[in-house]
Amino acid sequence: MSSPVTMPSPDAGRPPLLEATGLTKVFLSGGKSFKAVDDVSLRIPQGGVLGIVGESGSGKSTVARLVMRLIEPTAGRILLDGEDLSAMSGEPLRLVRRHMQIVFQNPHSALNPRHTIRDAIAEPFLVQTQLRGIELERRVDGLLDIVSLPKAFKYRYPHELSGGQKQRICIARAVALEPRLLVLDEPTSALDVSVQAQIITFLQELRERLNLTYLFISHNLAVVRYLCDHVIVMNRGRMVEEGPTDAVFANPSEDYTRKLIASIPRLPQRAQT
Ligand SMILES: Nc1ncnc2c1ncn2[C@@H]1O[C@H](COP(=O)(O)OP(=O)(O)OP(=O)(O)O)[C@@H](O)[C@H]1O
Ligand SMILES: [Mg+2]
Repeated sequence: MSSPVTMPSPDAGRPPLLEATGLTKVFLSGGKSFKAVDDVSLRIPQGGVLGIVGESGSGKSTVARLVMRLIEPTAGRILLDGEDLSAMSGEPLRLVRRHMQIVFQNPHSALNPRHTIRDAIAEPFLVQTQLRGIELERRVDGLLDIVSLPKAFKYRYPHELSGGQKQRICIARAVALEPRLLVLDEPTSALDVSVQAQIITFLQELRERLNLTYLFISHNLAVVRYLCDHVIVMNRGRMVEEGPTDAVFANPSEDYTRKLIASIPRLPQRAQT
């Protein structure tokens, strides 16, 4: 079994916030089986940021969905703050889900076009809590403030927002119930480059402000380098490399990783005037 990524923990003695060992997922379709994730192990301490990189189809989103228990693992264990999620179902799983949220790639399809922004942000409270009335409105306002959007946006519909603004709403909704783990699956790849940079800076600030832990999935190695302490490189469902981000980027041990790094687009230097 592959060894889990070990990150120095600021609070030694406490279990890592997330620990997954031997995660494996076999999909069955059309009478054939396909191993999309093969023996992946990872560990993220409270407050850490772990990146997963790898080319399209390498199994990154499947790992995210396994960690969130959106799909059942074929094998492996998932512990959140020491609590085993692998065998959980029903009400206990619903309660534990409050502590982990996922933000997907495409904010355009993540929001219901017929719901106002207020309704989108209020939904987690209505589903999971007893909070109502003026207190609920205050929380919605507070979340808009956290994602740096004006309160007046409450009465808008998703089509009246830009892509970056919509992704901020998705993030507001994901952090509404104060989760401990945020899984970000290519949260900026549907956005313009300039907006991507804004969201990444914002995610960095948000993590510090809300004491969040991130599992961050991206094609974009430049972004991973900026945001993540540790990184896992995946190829065909397997972890081919892992370690502190700086070390992996400075001295990749795998050819596959070297090729990924070499494929980071370099922007032309602006001419000095
Ligand atoms: N429900 C499913 N049934 C069958 N195969 C699946 C299913 N979901 C994913 N796969 C396959 O598993 C592999 C990994 O998919 P996954 O979405 O995890 O890749 P990824 O690394 O996130 O790719 P991308 O960077 O394009 O998002 C792919 O070959 C995909 O076709
Ligand atoms: Mg994916």
